[in-house]
Amino acid sequence: MEVFEVTGGRQLNGTVRVCGSKNAALPILAATVMAEDVCVIEGVPHLEDVRVMVEILRALGAQVDWQGDTVSVDPRNISSTDVPSHLMRRMRSSVFLMGPLLARFGEVRVSRPGGCVIGQRPIDFHLRGMRALGARIEQSHGYVRCTANRLYGDHITLDYPSVGATENLMMAAVLSDGVTVLENVAREPEIVDLAQFLQRCGARIENAGDGTITVTGVHHLGGARHRVIPDRIVAGTMMIAAAAVGGDVTLERADPHHLGAVIAKIRETGAQVQVERDIIRVTQAEPGRAVDIRTAPYPGFPTDLQAPFMALMTILRGTSVVRESVFEARFKHVDELNRMGANISVDGQTAVVHGVPRLSGATVEASDLRGGAALVVAGLAAEGTTRVEGLHHIDRGYEQLDTHLRDLGADIVRRAV
Ligand code: EPZ
Repeated sequence: MEVFEVTGGRQLNGTVRVCGSKNAALPILAATVMAEDVCVIEGVPHLEDVRVMVEILRALGAQVDWQGDTVSVDPRNISSTDVPSHLMRRMRSSVFLMGPLLARFGEVRVSRPGGCVIGQRPIDFHLRGMRALGARIEQSHGYVRCTANRLYGDHITLDYPSVGATENLMMAAVLSDGVTVLENVAREPEIVDLAQFLQRCGARIENAGDGTITVTGVHHLGGARHRVIPDRIVAGTMMIAAAAVGGDVTLERADPHHLGAVIAKIRETGAQVQVERDIIRVTQAEPGRAVDIRTAPYPGFPTDLQAPFMALMTILRGTSVVRESVFEARFKHVDELNRMGANISVDGQTAVVHGVPRLSGATVEASDLRGGAALVVAGLAAEGTTRVEGLHHIDRGYEQLDTHLRDLGADIVRRAV
């Protein structure tokens, strides 16, 4: 087992380059199965979830070559539409293969993705949308099988702007006959990035990034080269860490346009945030003021930064309130933060954080990837040493988090125990 040992009390100073977005790379790699020629995806982060997605593509029969941050996928010899269940269970995002495989091959079988600590995470919106496009859905023995001789465009309104359902249905619609209008869809930058990749392959998609997307089906998709957008959640996590411990941190290859709500909240604490082109600079001289956050679909405050931001709130002056409105169980990090001397109480979807003068190092355990990042942020701000267990969660979403933080002056080491 590996743990992080974090000794707090040091400011962060310097420059770090933001890696490519996990949540853009995963659906884009899944979408390559729809193409009839080689696709080259650049800026792909080295993360466990991406490794699993590459394994799945290879298991389906695609030729995949991964050099540095570039993944080349040759989908021409895909011979299976059955996503191996042992890989499905390692990563929920395998659900992104449903739309592409159904659209290209007329069938797909996946094992129902498990829920996780942040909530049930059902896929009913995905399945209802596939059915509307003409798919027959069978669910038995923990598997979901979708089949369709042809998919036909339809007018689909989502009950909730689900990121994954928007991506899956947009991909399925690309090779459907006729026009599909998707309403009440998610507007995340990762959806726009996926649409841009698909358009490069020849898809006809309008208004991705708005609340209504229109897809005009085509019969074939060619190959394409595409660089994924920067990871706004990794960038936001580093900004929050700088605001928590103080210092002067510059992020390169970030996209400030994707972080409006986060920049506004960090500024509200009293930290300075300067942006220009793909650079974000955060400076903070002393502990900031308490602020309230409410998570929401983009462009609202991202649920994926709720936990790291709560770690910052634990040492802000005053009382902060967190309203988690996207997932029903995303407060698993609260108990661990309280073990470090934080003063947080939870009532349903709301957490009240009373700022304390300082946290104290403790042994804590990550139970999901963003909660794990929160514990690292808390460790940086705590007095003494914090031992963070459960690194496999953190490694799913952060590429070399400890290395980047050490480059900024943090005292953090990864140790095998
Ligand atoms: C994506 O998950 C992200 N994952 C999540 O990031 C992110 O937290 C989430 O979007 C919200 O922004 C990837 O992109 C790989 P949703 P997804 O469908 O698509 C409910 C991370 O840390 N829902 O927008 O699964 C669902 O239960 C991960 O990188 C249904 O009820 O999120 C949740 O309450 C964590 N039925 C809400 O909608 C459905 O069919 C939002 O989920 C689908 C979703």
